[in-house]
Parts: sequence; structure tokens; C-alpha cells
Amino acid sequence: MTISSPGWSDPQLRWTLDPCVRHLNHGSFGAVPVAVQAEQNRLRAIADWNPVRWFATLAARIGDTREEMAELLAVDPGRMVFVLNASAGASVVYQSLMDRGPVSVLTTNHGYGAVTMGAERLAERTGGRAGVVDIPLNATEDEVIGLVGEAMRAQRPTLLVIDQVTSATARAFPVDEICREARSLGVLTLVDGAHAPGVLPDPICREADYWVGNLHKFASAPRGAAVLVARGSGQELFPLIDSWGSPHPFPQRFDHGGTFDATPWLTAPFAWRHLGETVGWERLRATSAALLDEGCAVVAKSLEGLVADPLPDVGQPVGPLRLVGLPGTLGATHAGADALRVPFSDATGIAIAFTNFEGRGFLRLSAHAYNSNHDYQYLATVGIPLLHRWSIEPGGGTHQA
Ligand SMILES: Cc1ncc(COP(=O)(O)O)c(C=O)c1O
Repeated sequence: MTISSPGWSDPQLRWTLDPCVRHLNHGSFGAVPVAVQAEQNRLRAIADWNPVRWFATLAARIGDTREEMAELLAVDPGRMVFVLNASAGASVVYQSLMDRGPVSVLTTNHGYGAVTMGAERLAERTGGRAGVVDIPLNATEDEVIGLVGEAMRAQRPTLLVIDQVTSATARAFPVDEICREARSLGVLTLVDGAHAPGVLPDPICREADYWVGNLHKFASAPRGAAVLVARGSGQELFPLIDSWGSPHPFPQRFDHGGTFDATPWLTAPFAWRHLGETVGWERLRATSAALLDEGCAVVAKSLEGLVADPLPDVGQPVGPLRLVGLPGTLGATHAGADALRVPFSDATGIAIAFTNFEGRGFLRLSAHAYNSNHDYQYLATVGIPLLHRWSIEPGGGTHQA
């Protein structure tokens, strides 16, 4: 079954999302439009029509698609490669630093857990140190630049890992300025732009030594499509899978991944153009932001008297991702927040992200072309009362529906 997008979107843009569920978490795993699924299925059919021919020509196909995607993202194709996901892109960078002696890393308290853990493991394996800079939720751009700069000067890390758009706190960081300062201090930078493609009009941070971004989030490519961009020649970077690409230079060496399903990469430019041609990128960003302005106001009203600060100041907000405070101690730990997702979805039919930061739990709301204001009204009238009940019951948040 397919559902059409609500009025603000083009009827050509259709999804296979369960119509009985309110999908308010595009941010975590995206959603793939019907036409994009069809394009991926078309490519898979060609692969299975003659696998030998498919794999014999695959690297060339990936190379062509890489150049096409680089043009869509306005980045030099000689500096960009496809990777499986943002985590894989970060791992490629970490791997490249393994033989440099002790690598000290600096991360922030807003970092995505898995990417931060990878950085910490890099430090541990090479005998370096792992430091964290604490940035208040509501820090302004200048404050963030000041805090990160101070930490870099004090700790002199080899590598700074910083998010462009944060996961748990749904805010942006001024990564261009930070990366420029890092360079002047001799600190390498990895910018985690997992959420940036599509969300930001010009998502690539060209000041970063390394930038990773997912195409399977806001840009709605099939899952397993992400890019890694190097500021320099990239010759120190190798694919995580050692295959026939090893003798080739960067970026061509990343076009060879052995026997695997490359259709998410090959479909990514189609997905990008599909959203551009149906809704339009500007309109998608503007309408998602307007929808969330309205939706957050409705949800905040339903939290009146339950949460002192339902819409916290996140300093540098982003359009299609927003943070809403949870009542009581609900979701106050990472495990507690994660544990709410399935029971809440089962009980209410609302798929949403629960995050936590510095001991406080949050809902993270997304908007995309399949959302309408009814979704947020439903969250306010059905979801919030249940969350309130869970927050005051003993063992709140550990419910199984
Ligand atoms: C900021 C950030 N970085 C990295 C990731 C990891 O993405 P992936 O699972 O596609 O590697 C996520 C996932 O949500 C994220 O939000």
C-alpha cells in the first residue's frame, strides 16, 4: 500500500509508510519514496539479469554515479567517495590514523555515541588521549567557537570530531569557523554531517579535513548511501574493505568494494533529483520548518504545567529537527530514552525519536514531505498524555505496551 503526500507536496511523491502510524522520526533512518524504491529495484533486476556483466562493469558505474552525486552536492568529484553510512565514513578516517603513533582525540558532549566511541577507541588503540568539550545546550555560535577553541588550545588533540547537526540535541554547530581555527592550530577535523544533506542548503563543510554525510536520512536515498569528502588529496584514505581498489588512487579506489549491493549508491542521485523535482529542495526545507514551528507550539501547549521548559533553547536550531522536553525523569539516560521507542510506538502508533542530554530526556521531532499538522496534533492529544502517565508511574519509561 502506498500513501500520497499531504497537500503541500507533489502527488508524484509517494511513500510506502504504514498509514496507521504517525511517522515523526525521519531523522533516524529516513524513508524511501516509491519512485526511489522502484529505481533501486530496476537496478537490482539488471544486476540479477546477468550478475557477471553487472559486477564486471560495477566500478565504472559507481565512478560515474560518484561524479553525478558530487555535482549535485556541489563538491569536487575528486574529493568525494561513497561509503555505506556516516559511521563507515568516520571509521575510514580513524583507520587512516592508526599508524601515526599516539592519536589524541577531542569530541563534544553532543556527539553521536557510536562515532564518539570510535574516536575514543582510536585514541585507546594508538596510546593517545580522549578529551571531551562540554557545550551547554543553549550555547550561541560564538560561545561554541570559544569553548571548542579553548579546549583545542589546552588539549592539543590530533583530531577533533564535531557534529554539523547534532543527533541528541537537534542543533547546528558553526563547523566552518571551528575547522578554520583547528587548522591554524594543526588539529585535524572530522565533521559528522550525518544529518546535513538536504537539511542544509549547502551541506558540505569544505573547511573540514574530512566530512561525512548520510544520503539515507533527509535526502531519502535507500539505506546504505553516504559520502565522505576529503579536503586534501585523500591519498591516506582507504576503503574499510580491502578489495581490488587498493592499487588505485583516491577516490577511484573506493569504487571497488568486492561483491556487495551497490544499488543504494547508484540510486542516490535519482533520490536527490526526485525530491528536487517533486517538492523542490527549498520548499521541502521551508515547509518542514514551518510545519514544525506550528507542530512544536501545539505539543508545547499540551505539556503546559507538566514541563517547565517544553521547547528548550538549543542555541543554533535547524529547520526539520526539533527538541521537546519530556516530563519528569522520562528518558533521562541513553538506555532509558532508547527503551521508550518501541513501547511508545506500539501503544500510540507514533514513531518518534527519544533522546537525552546531560541527564534530561527529550522527544526529537522531524518533519518531511509526508507529514501534516495532524501528526503533531495527534502527538499532543494522544502521545503526550501517555508520556505524562508513564512519567508519574513507578518505573516510568520501562513499560511494555
Ligand atoms: C550525528 C550522527 N552521526 C552519525 C550517525 C550514524 O549514522 P549511520 O547509522 O547511518 O552510520 C547518526 C545517526 O543517526 C547521527 O545522527
